[in-house]
Amino acid sequence: MCGIIGCVGRTPAAAIVLDGLQALEYRGYDSAGLAVLDGDKLLVERVSGRIADLRARLAGRRLPGTTAIGHTRWATHGMPSEANAHPHADCAGRVAVVHNGIIENHRALRRALEADGHKFSSETDSEVLAHLVERSLAGGADLPSALRRAMREIEGSAAVACISADSPGVIVAARRGSPLAIGVSEGRQFVASDALPIVEHTRRVIYLEDDELAVLASDRVELFDRDGLPVPRSPTVIVWNAVAIQKEGYAHFMLKEIHEQPRAIEDTLRGRVAPGLIGVEFGEELPAGLLAGMQRMVIVGMGTSWHAGLIGRNMIERLARLPVQVDYAADFRYRDPVIDEHTLVLAISQSGETADTLEAVRLAKSLGVRTAVIANVVDSSLAREADGVLYTRAGPEVGVASTKAFTSQITALCMLAIRLGLERGALAKAEAVRRINDLCATGGELRKVLDTGAAVERLAGKYAQARDFLFLGRGAGYPLALEGALKLKEVAYIHAEGYHAAEMKHGPIALVDANMPVLFLALKGRRYEKIMSNIQEIRARGGRVIAVASLGDEEIVNQADDVLYVPDEVGMMNAVLATVPLQLLAYHVAVARGCDVDRPRNLAKSVTVE
Ligand code: M6R
Repeated sequence: MCGIIGCVGRTPAAAIVLDGLQALEYRGYDSAGLAVLDGDKLLVERVSGRIADLRARLAGRRLPGTTAIGHTRWATHGMPSEANAHPHADCAGRVAVVHNGIIENHRALRRALEADGHKFSSETDSEVLAHLVERSLAGGADLPSALRRAMREIEGSAAVACISADSPGVIVAARRGSPLAIGVSEGRQFVASDALPIVEHTRRVIYLEDDELAVLASDRVELFDRDGLPVPRSPTVIVWNAVAIQKEGYAHFMLKEIHEQPRAIEDTLRGRVAPGLIGVEFGEELPAGLLAGMQRMVIVGMGTSWHAGLIGRNMIERLARLPVQVDYAADFRYRDPVIDEHTLVLAISQSGETADTLEAVRLAKSLGVRTAVIANVVDSSLAREADGVLYTRAGPEVGVASTKAFTSQITALCMLAIRLGLERGALAKAEAVRRINDLCATGGELRKVLDTGAAVERLAGKYAQARDFLFLGRGAGYPLALEGALKLKEVAYIHAEGYHAAEMKHGPIALVDANMPVLFLALKGRRYEKIMSNIQEIRARGGRVIAVASLGDEEIVNQADDVLYVPDEVGMMNAVLATVPLQLLAYHVAVARGCDVDRPRNLAKSVTVE
């Protein structure tokens, strides 16, 4: 997730764009840049670092240009560096482009453009846009037509703003998948990833729809559809304040990030798998050789990332028939672990900075063992340390409670399991296609689960004053029980325990009485009947049963006090769907109890000390 801002008017634009970038920094902050058009002169300045570094670089410079675009980056393709920072320019330095999104076919486009003589200066997917525009301009197109053609050639998601030395006083912007807002005012117009940097200048905003293109000049904004036909649309008036815009109208970042999960999952899959196709493509960051000849995998992580590892173990053992052990990184590093050159140590970490996980990888490397990491933050310490990296593309996670990072990690693990299954000959091609189709359908199913959020909110009101909570599950339901309990503890400060449902009779059942809510992960599947027996055992002791159950399961209504339904059509990825009610329950209970949801007491987002 990156931030884009552009401004065109009759007075200098650079300072406005810099301030706008500052407001957008929450969307990404590993590198930044801006391009200013002064008459027909284009200046591009970029830094590896934050907006403050860009300001420092530009301090004292005279920038009278009245047209400017800027970008704050959160890396997906190519490490954070000056060369990979936006804006990207064409070969002649006359076109500048900023982009938010992921261009899936960038490799093929780049090869074709290079064959035509175009010279690339970054490792990003985004740079192809500058060269595609350059090629069309050279063929006689005007800037809007050139960008429209470029948008047709790319696959994936893109919010783009583009300026050219041959079109002074004009910004052209287009979107597909990633958002773009246009700010409309007298004598000055804006384009940005969201309304946040716009509202201090104008509250009149137009949101671009997919495949629309906007032409901005000081005195006008024109919208066009994919065929270049004009689109009439009046601005809406924004009433939110700045913080509300940052949260996109959600009351907390945690809630916003819960709702971002379909997008996070689809971005994590983008360019790696496709419906109906056999194969999982990871690119050079996770070299194929790293996975070859492996006889065993040890997954290390902490907290929510460790829970994702437990789900990943089930997936990899089942699809790839590869033995997997899951360890707390903190325990692994001090236990003198038995690992050898046939082992892969796979770390999982949202931040890529968790001290114990980092040290576990360093230990494995010092023993000559191959390492890889599933990380969300590009070029984080773990990503740099490990031999290979598989990035989740969840975007910055601001809420201390991990939500979208968790479900993106499960997504990455499922892709890895399919890839290993195919490579090891353990997974039939037809089943691989079915599993890939499940992956690709997960985002859509997840949107349906999110639509039922009001039911979870009602339930949260009923249980908000509970003193204790039990979460029980089997199979993938067991790590989900751990995750549900962790979420409730950390944001709502309710004592909650997650247990394997089979373990309940070995002790925890002594806790059950009429005051104890017990949440069961009770989706249909191989363990359903066993779970139903466990539910009976709780009911017999007077416990209050909440079930997360498969849509259409009518039987469970007779067994549970409350039921939260989720669809269960995506096989192993049903685990992701069942996660959402747990996240929402913790969230709404925390809100009902007046807790500081985004900054729970005693916690840090990233635990960089032992
Ligand atoms: O950044 P990491 O994934 O390595 O962080 C690991 C844990 O600190 C983290 O998952 C923590 O448990 C979360 N606060 C849980 O919501």
